[in-house]
Formats: sequence, structure tokens, C-alpha cells
Amino acid sequence: MTSLPSSVTDTKKLLLAHGYVTDDALATSVFLALKLQRPLFLEGEAGVGKTEIARVLAEALGRPLVRLQCYEGLDISSAVYEWNYGRQLLHIRAGESGGTAQDVKAIERDVYSADYLLKRPLLQALELSQGGKAPVLLIDELDRADEPFEAFLLELLADYQVTIPELGTIKAQEPPITILTSNRTREVHDAVRRRCFYHWVDFPNFERELAILRLKVPGAPKELSRQLVAFVQSIRQMDLYKSPGIAETINWAQALAALNVVALEPGAIDSTLGTLLKYQDDIARIRGTEAAALLEKVKSEARSLAG
Ligand SMILES: Nc1ncnc2c1ncn2[C@@H]1O[C@H](COP(=O)(O)OP(=O)(O)OP(=O)(O)O)[C@@H](O)[C@H]1O
Ligand SMILES: [Mg+2]
Repeated sequence: MTSLPSSVTDTKKLLLAHGYVTDDALATSVFLALKLQRPLFLEGEAGVGKTEIARVLAEALGRPLVRLQCYEGLDISSAVYEWNYGRQLLHIRAGESGGTAQDVKAIERDVYSADYLLKRPLLQALELSQGGKAPVLLIDELDRADEPFEAFLLELLADYQVTIPELGTIKAQEPPITILTSNRTREVHDAVRRRCFYHWVDFPNFERELAILRLKVPGAPKELSRQLVAFVQSIRQMDLYKSPGIAETINWAQALAALNVVALEPGAIDSTLGTLLKYQDDIARIRGTEAAALLEKVKSEARSLAG
């Protein structure tokens, strides 16, 4: 287990060593969340690296990653715990044959013990937090869960404990390193936000996106990487239905490299746009004239930088 980073610079270095490129603002948020043991709430467009940061943090700190993927209808029995009814029933059946009053009491005690509990991610995270090695708890895409679930979460985030009526209260010895994410399909409630530190994860600037590509697609020719990052940066300025995230830039670079493209040209762009843009309206808008014009702009900017 690695100890927590001692400064913002340390945080940046640690994440970079595990393949995640941050800027100062994000590294500061992460550092503070770790240092002050507060949950970190990350919001941002799709594919900007929200989920990845939890994964990398767990790896970098040598902690287990416990992930709760939120969805509509998510409830306590999928998020926290559930009694294993099937096994309870079997145990009861097996005991039924003898049947004195004392046996019945014993059976009841048995079937409401930890052995018959199915532990879901939130309970797992609390239990793993014993012994000074709190896991990274990722509560991913909270905006997809319903509001009652958010209210429940509030309690959990306040005390890091859950109460199981038949068993008692289970409390984390140390708060798990908690990351919540949202794609903002709806606003997450104020009360949740107030318990967390907040960071808006923006699209990266040119330098950071290029650095990410160098790490993730080292085989792509340098010139190609520069051009395609500049191209992606400029289509993000357009009012597309869905702007490409970092994941899409990576996919596009991998596609072009696989096709042995060494420098962008209109034909290669048009035939690979589906790795970068995922809606036909956006593709139709960029393909052809617009792509050629953007490419010209990217090239002339590169020339003016070089000269
Ligand atoms: N800063 C970064 N450094 C390195 N790689 C990154 C970075 N940001 C994103 N990536 C890459 O982009 C991919 C997509 O990121 P991720 O899945 O975390 O996005 P997300 O914000 O959670 O998107 P969604 O909202 O769609 O879930 C990651 O698998 C990772 O490879
Ligand atoms: Mg995600």
C-alpha cells in the first residue's frame, strides 16, 4: 500500500505514473479530498476521465476499488445488502424436521447472521475500511439513480455506517476514499454536493490531450498526434450534438495508426469519423467540406507556430 501524496505536485506525479494526466486544478481537488478525507464529486461531459480517475487512484494507492454503478431503480438491496432468502429457506427446511421451540429460536438467530447476508458495494466498502486501508469507493453516474437513493446516500456519506435491523450497525473505521461522478443528465441534490468537494472535469487543453495520447497511443506518429488533437480541439468549439471526449480521441488515434496513416488527410478523416463521432448528424456535418476546411486551418496554424 502506498501512502497518500503529500502535495499537489506529488498527486500529479503519482497519477501520471499510473497513466492519468491531470492539470493543477484537478490535482488540487484530488489532493484536498485525500488529505481532508472528504468525498470528491466530479461532474463533466462524457469521456473526460471521471471514472478513470477513481480507477487510477485505487491502483496508485494500492487500494481495492469498490464500484457502484448507478441506474434508474437502484435500491438498497442492490447497493447495500440483501438477505440471501434462498439459503435462509434451505436452512429453515433442514431444521424443521426436529422442531422444539428452542430450535426455532436458534434457527432464527442463524439465518439472520452475517453468513446469510449478501453484501453489495456500499457495505463491502465499509467493511474493507477496517484496518487502516480504506478502499476507493466509486459511486458512478449518480445522476442516473433516483432521488430517494440520493437521500439514503446522504446518511451514508455523513457517518459511513449502515444499520441492518437484524444485525446492528456496521461502521467504517476510516472513511473510504469516495469519488462520485455525474454526467449531469439531472442536477444532483444540494445536500449531496455540500458533503463533497466539487470539481468540474473539463475537456483537456491541447498540451494535456497531446500528453494523454503520447501515453495511451505511443505508437502513433508524432505529427499525426499533433494534428488530430488540434482537429479534435477545434471540432469541440463547434456546436455538435455530442462533442468527442478523450476516449474518442484515443480511439481515433488508434484507428488512424492501425491504418498506417502518418499525417491527416481528408480521405482518412472521412473514412474514420465513426471512431470519433457517434451521431450521424454530427458525422454528416463534419464529413467532406467541413473536415477539409478544418484540416487546412489546423495545418496553417501548425505552420505559423513552426515559422
Ligand atoms: N486525464 C487522462 N489521462 C489519461 N487518460 C485519460 C484521461 N482522461 C480520460 N482518459 C482516457 O479516456 C477514457 C475515458 O475516460 P472515462 O471513462 O473515465 O470517462 P468518463 O468521464 O467517466 O466518461 P462517461 O461519462 O462516459 O462515463 C479512459 O479509459 C482513459 O483511457
Ligand atoms: Mg464514466
